Amino acid sequence: MIFGAVLAGGVGSRMKLADIPKQFLPLGKKPIIIHTVEKFLANDRFDYVYVGINGDWVLYFEDLLKKYGVNDPRLKIVAGGSDRNSTIMNVIDDINTNISDSDDDVIITHDAVRPFLTTRIINQNIDGVIKYGMCDTVISATDTIVVSEDGEYISEVPPRDKQYQGQTPQSFNINLLKKLYSELTDKQKAELTDACKICTLAGKKVRLIEGEVYNIKITTVSDYKIAQSILGGNLSD
Ligand code: CTP
Repeated sequence: MIFGAVLAGGVGSRMKLADIPKQFLPLGKKPIIIHTVEKFLANDRFDYVYVGINGDWVLYFEDLLKKYGVNDPRLKIVAGGSDRNSTIMNVIDDINTNISDSDDDVIITHDAVRPFLTTRIINQNIDGVIKYGMCDTVISATDTIVVSEDGEYISEVPPRDKQYQGQTPQSFNINLLKKLYSELTDKQKAELTDACKICTLAGKKVRLIEGEVYNIKITTVSDYKIAQSILGGNLSD
């Protein structure tokens, strides 16, 4: 089966603008998270679309779904975890307990705060994860990346043609990801904040999927302003 997972367990501490998590801020005519969830539900290849919501905000989110007329039997809500990977694991636990634990099951995980996801990116993630077992959405780095070990002087300038910026979705064969995650120590779990890094450190090959420059993650107030201009004042969206 094919599962979507919209990750919205965070509180948005770097977005110093409002006292609600950033995924609930308005973007055009509806909240950021509603844009993202609708992109998933628009794709009928998903058997289920999960949303991992910060536990304190589940009722608030359910009210938003009603207010914006989002009503789809494939939609499932679970409480998020203490970090992003724990939110993914909470979704996977619910899938295994209530729906399926087949070795063929795949999950397309995506940040709730990347509302400009496209149908092409979703479909290429689904095709990629079915074929390769794991994939990550990236764009080529356009700026030169400079590495500094001490934050004061350059340690290294790696070749730009081998540098990419990570986006989401990140997609996984569920049982494979679960196995790799269960093999981590608590310290590794705390350090490995990127789910794909869990896979590469275990020596697994993760296939690249081409993202879009505008598939931005809304992290700070500047990102929020950029998101509003990307929407381009198209308030029908
Ligand atoms: N996320 C999650 N569960 C967590 C933490 C984060 O599902 N325990 C989600 C966020 O809701 C967000 C995505 O992961 O959609 C990307 O994380 P980030 O931008 O870091 O979001 P926050 O953790 O909310 O922001 P901040 O780090 O500024 O507090």
